Amino acid sequence: MSARRLARRAAAGFAAAALAGLAALLAFGYRSGGDDADGAPALQATAEHAARGAYLARAGNCAACHTARGGAAYAGGRGIATPFGTVYASNITPDADTGIGRWTSTDFWRAMHHGRSKDGRLLYPAFPYTSYTRVGREDTDAILAFLKTQVAPVRQANRPHAVRFPYDSQLALAAWRGLFFRPGGFEPDAARAVDWNRGAYLVQGLGHCSACHAARNVLGASSAPAALGGGLIPAQDWYAPSLAAADQAGVADWPIEAVVALLREGISPHGSVLGPMAEVVQSSTQHLSDSDLRAVATYLKALPPVAAGTVPSQVVPPDPDRMQRGARVYEKRCADCHGDAGQGAPGAYPALAGNRAVTMEPPVNVIRVVLAGGFPPSTGGNPRPYGMPPFGTELSDADVAAVVSFIRSSWGNAGSAVGPRQVDRLRRTAAE
Ligand code: HEC
Ligand code: HEC
Ligand code: HEC
Repeated sequence: MSARRLARRAAAGFAAAALAGLAALLAFGYRSGGDDADGAPALQATAEHAARGAYLARAGNCAACHTARGGAAYAGGRGIATPFGTVYASNITPDADTGIGRWTSTDFWRAMHHGRSKDGRLLYPAFPYTSYTRVGREDTDAILAFLKTQVAPVRQANRPHAVRFPYDSQLALAAWRGLFFRPGGFEPDAARAVDWNRGAYLVQGLGHCSACHAARNVLGASSAPAALGGGLIPAQDWYAPSLAAADQAGVADWPIEAVVALLREGISPHGSVLGPMAEVVQSSTQHLSDSDLRAVATYLKALPPVAAGTVPSQVVPPDPDRMQRGARVYEKRCADCHGDAGQGAPGAYPALAGNRAVTMEPPVNVIRVVLAGGFPPSTGGNPRPYGMPPFGTELSDADVAAVVSFIRSSWGNAGSAVGPRQVDRLRRTAAE
């Protein structure tokens, strides 16, 4: 046989093997969560059970995605932007025709645990079932009891997704699931304390913290969800910092009370929450019980510490022109609140000096907060937070780049300079 024919044969053999592999993946993707009807007893919707479900729905932040801006609670219609297009959250009110009114406990379990709809359709992982798969059956039953008995039915058909080819097919989803999803569960670690285990269950399951705090690969799957190593939230251009790195959002060195305060009030002596994290605190974590918050904090504090991989090997300081321009903008627009030396005002305005959110790499959050302003969440412990005005319309890209570069490298801060092009790019996503 000629070398050429051999090569061709080998290529054909490789293609066949690849196809067989793909078929196996697809078969796996389809099968996972097919039919595991179990003999679970009919749903018990006692008032107590439903109240427990209401609490768990908060812990899972279901309302945040399943409620459109200005829309009825849980009636769906909110778009979740992904790099593959927009996926619209479903109506999960108990309406019989357009919601989940006819769903059984097993149908609901299949959605939460296997990522499959009642009719067998594979669901997009924009619905974080890759985390919810760790939630136990008792808890999913309680959430369903809540949705069925305490949420008003709303008749509203689901909005079709606007996902691009080739990601818009069941086949693509099946392949994705074959690669990246196995229905899971939660195995307590007997060597750890009860508190740590409760925290692990909440963080990895209902809290779906890894949906934002873990980097995603090009196909949108979190590579190492348990490490919570931080990542850009795709298509939304916020950076969710590493919860394991001290120079990002790690809390190993914080007193446990400060972590609890951050998750309950949105502010703590060590920092305040912004953007998507402000929403998480607003609609989810502030409602958790003291013991659950302490459990989450215990778990976060015990995450294996890592040196942040994102710290640039060398810091590029701004040139003197940009520093001077930044200093002028700062004095005029920022110093009233954040202080002449970036010292802030306790309880009202965060310090910028020594603030890791300011120097963090990548600098997307700090640019966005200057462009769009921000409010810490309004919480029981901080009902009327002081806000930060948006500067996007008043300041040019060059001014924003200058003032951000200035605060990143003044008063002992050592972060890299940012340029006007980075500002321009974020101005556009923020406006979308
Ligand atoms: C990050 C956003 C997000 C969060 C948080 C979220 N969902 Fe969803 N959910 C979605 C999206 C998007 C879909 C649509 C997926 C699809 O159609 O492929 C969905 C679909 C569903 C479905 C399937 C509905 C159907 O008709 O097939 C159920 C059930 C559901 N979610 C329940 C919940 C519950 C319960 C919670 C809280 C524990 C929750 N979701 C939290 C985004 C979210
Ligand atoms: C929707 C995306 C999203 C989810 C879900 C999310 N976070 Fe965040 N988180 C962020 C972003 C973005 C930031 C950075 C902005 C900031 O500092 O608040 C952040 C920041 C943080 C910080 C650092 C705050 C500071 O000021 O230092 C902590 C701690 C944190 N998150 C914990 C959690 C925990 C615990 C969960 C799960 C219960 C969670 N996050 C879920 C997006 C998210
Ligand atoms: C009216 C008072 C006020 C002014 C003026 C103001 N800020 Fe702020 N700033 C705040 C408040 C309040 C927050 C907290 C916002 C939040 O948590 O969402 C904040 C947050 C920030 C943060 C995020 C800090 C963190 O810990 O996450 C940065 C960075 C920042 N401001 C920079 C600036 C810059 C640069 C200027 C001038 C261009 C400026 N601010 C002007 C009140 C102000």
